[in-house]
Amino acid sequence: MLNPSEYIKEHIRTVPNWPQEGVMFRDITPLLQNPKVFRVLIDMFVHRYMDEKIDVIAGLDARGFIIGSVLAYELNLGFVPIRKKGKLPFHTVSEEYELEYGSATVELHADACKKGDRVVLIDDLIATGGTMMAGKKLLERLGATVVEGAVIVDLPELGGSKIIKDSGMPLYTICNFD
Ligand code: PRP
Ligand code: ADE
Ligand code: MG
Repeated sequence: MLNPSEYIKEHIRTVPNWPQEGVMFRDITPLLQNPKVFRVLIDMFVHRYMDEKIDVIAGLDARGFIIGSVLAYELNLGFVPIRKKGKLPFHTVSEEYELEYGSATVELHADACKKGDRVVLIDDLIATGGTMMAGKKLLERLGATVVEGAVIVDLPELGGSKIIKDSGMPLYTICNFD
């Protein structure tokens, strides 16, 4: 009998050399496609946060939206999207960051949270940690506190989870790939 983390990890597909040579892409779509595994995943996050004082769930564009919005619904909380540049229509704050492959800018609506809000920041995966750190900075610029970052997959060899933890941000990861 696999424990829940191993069960989830078993349903992540590795696609070598995508989107470019040398990248081992960890694809969560098989996990989402399987209703039992998807439920086990969401339940892990729900159980972790159900008795905590959380005001808002924030999700990182795009794969963080899939998990983050379901989690927010289950916890009866609101969801705020942190989007890639140029997608949010209202006043925004923005942060540029580096990816494992390329660079990007993320934005957050200026009224997405209030000063003092306690936020859990959700994504599917940590590689270099750039996306998660940029999201944290945006939330903090609005005066929110990021209680924890949470992802399905950590790629520890890329160093992101260490950078995040060294910055003082708690991080919950369900499984990792070397
Ligand atoms: C991927 C992944 C994380 C990020 C992790 O998103 O979903 O958000 O990279 O990398 P990092 O730790 O080095 O920042 P990506 O922007 O590639 O695409 P997506 O829109 O499919 O989420
Ligand atoms: N985002 C950044 N690196 C990734 C990887 N190796 N697999 C899936 N998503 C990623
Ligand atoms: Mg992403």
